[in-house]
Amino acid sequence: MSAPDALETIERPVFNLDGHEVPFSPGQTVIQAALAAGVYIPHLCHHADFAPHGSCKVCTCRINGRMATSCTFPASEGLEVESETPEVQELRRDLVQFLFTEGNHFCPSCEQSGNCKLQAVGYDLGVLTGHYNPLFPDRPVDASHPDVLLDTNRCILCELCVRASATMDGKSVFALSGRGITKHLIVNAESGRLADTQLAVGDKAMNVCPVGAIIRKRQGFRVPIGQRTYDAAPISQIAVQGETKGGTP
Ligand code: SF4
Ligand code: FES
Repeated sequence: MSAPDALETIERPVFNLDGHEVPFSPGQTVIQAALAAGVYIPHLCHHADFAPHGSCKVCTCRINGRMATSCTFPASEGLEVESETPEVQELRRDLVQFLFTEGNHFCPSCEQSGNCKLQAVGYDLGVLTGHYNPLFPDRPVDASHPDVLLDTNRCILCELCVRASATMDGKSVFALSGRGITKHLIVNAESGRLADTQLAVGDKAMNVCPVGAIIRKRQGFRVPIGQRTYDAAPISQIAVQGETKGGTP
């Protein structure tokens, strides 16, 4: 570390994360500071290109004694953050198991296997089974678009595609409808069909889905299983690299 870098580190305020000091800049959230410092906190709806959302709760930590989502919690001097404790990890495992059992996730046959954040976070947390009774919901698949397949069986309702389409693509192709267990992804067209929207493969909304719900047609298995993003390295390594480069994969 060069002298100016060292000085900057010394002068920045810090909080405590699992016994280690994490420096932060004003305006950063706990998860942003942690990832920038090379410390992984599991997450699904957090994305470096978007404002904090706080919906999946997978990033929950015990912060100053209370459970809170680290993606929405502002970093501040002297915070005491617990992330890797058995209690917090068990909570995250439960949340991920809920996601697996409330949708239809069949990893061995999914086109996104190896690139899927839900699968990768599950591995990181040591999720071996769904544990809870699967709901096997009846959800639609929309293959009407010439270039895109929408399989809502795999949607985890993170709203990244909704946010990307509205704020970056200026199209508002996607939205969430319903509440609680009836909450579901809808397509913003009178017909309800993806073919009747302005969605294009170059849209940001095409590149943010953490699971295999929004898939490009004619690309299936172009990269073989075993050579995909999270086959090469665990998400705990890759997410940290992504954040320091300015984008979470
Ligand atoms: S389709 Fe993908 S990006 Fe959109 S809400 Fe569902 S999981 Fe999130
Ligand atoms: S990553 Fe924080 S609530 Fe989803």
